[in-house]
Amino acid sequence: MDLSQQLANFPRLDLIGPPTPLEYLTRLSDYLGREIFIKRDDVTPLAMGGNKLRKLEYLAADALRQGADTLVTAGAIQSNHVCQTAAVAAKLGLRCVALLENPIGTRADNYLTNGNRLLLDLFDVEVMSCEALDQPDQQLADIAERLEAQGFRPYVVPVGGSNALGALGYVGCGVEIAHQCDGLIRPGSVVTASGSAGTHAGLALGLQTLLPETLVIGVTVSRSVEQQRPKVAALQEQLALMLDCHEPPAKITLWDDYFAPRYGMPNEEGLAAIKLVARLEGILLDPVYTGKAMAGLIDGVNQSRFPDGPILFVHTGGSPALFAYHPTV
Ligand SMILES: Cc1ncc(COP(=O)(O)O)c(C=O)c1O
Repeated sequence: MDLSQQLANFPRLDLIGPPTPLEYLTRLSDYLGREIFIKRDDVTPLAMGGNKLRKLEYLAADALRQGADTLVTAGAIQSNHVCQTAAVAAKLGLRCVALLENPIGTRADNYLTNGNRLLLDLFDVEVMSCEALDQPDQQLADIAERLEAQGFRPYVVPVGGSNALGALGYVGCGVEIAHQCDGLIRPGSVVTASGSAGTHAGLALGLQTLLPETLVIGVTVSRSVEQQRPKVAALQEQLALMLDCHEPPAKITLWDDYFAPRYGMPNEEGLAAIKLVARLEGILLDPVYTGKAMAGLIDGVNQSRFPDGPILFVHTGGSPALFAYHPTV
């Protein structure tokens, strides 16, 4: 199976341009005594970067194909996904409607108004609030129905951009990583934050044929291993069908030791990881996703949880949230 050829069957807008950098982290590697590389998906071009743009390349192409004039999506007040969706809508001349929840019930001014939330106003998003996104698909469908009744043509982007179409973006990232590593690096493992699971599932499928010996590890940011595994597995299965991939699905490895106390609440290890990487490498992580994933990487090295070989950290973005979580961070 040629994954690149299979991917080319799906319409995609080129919003990212050339491959994002894959770099060696000299000082962090020296500090940890392991070779650590980083895939810089935090520097994708729109709205201060992040992983969602890879998914939106496919989702926005689908929206345009369907003649949509409005992107509708949902997430936390500080959602990077909502912010990236809003930026794409702006770039394409579409409206953006966003349904937001406050998953940590905070009244902190910076959380409610700064960071990604500030950017939503810049992108002129129509913001709606809800108590909880407990049935997000239904809640989004209800908003889409109301917009249709008003004469708009809404396109629903699922939470996190994580349906199989969006996850194709991370199959593409897996292929990109394999090409960048070709003949130079043989990663023993790849580490990513695992939330709505599209990034993890896409990477796992993208890498399984091209770098079959590389273990893809998802550090969960909101769920236990038992809760997260079926989400990754379901997306892997749908991706395999779409891409006509008949190999047995890649092994799903999840670490759930690093997200406590809950989604969206920083923890000490995550904050320490943010400081360490800022001070050693000049790279900004975030308190909700990549700080916790990096805490997993650091602890995994200290506890010898990784197989041999270089470790590749996929930096999925999120740094605008640093401002929202100040002064905690
Ligand atoms: C910065 C960042 N990293 C990682 C993730 C997790 O990606 P996924 O939802 O595809 O699991 C997200 C999702 O919102 C994110 O914003």
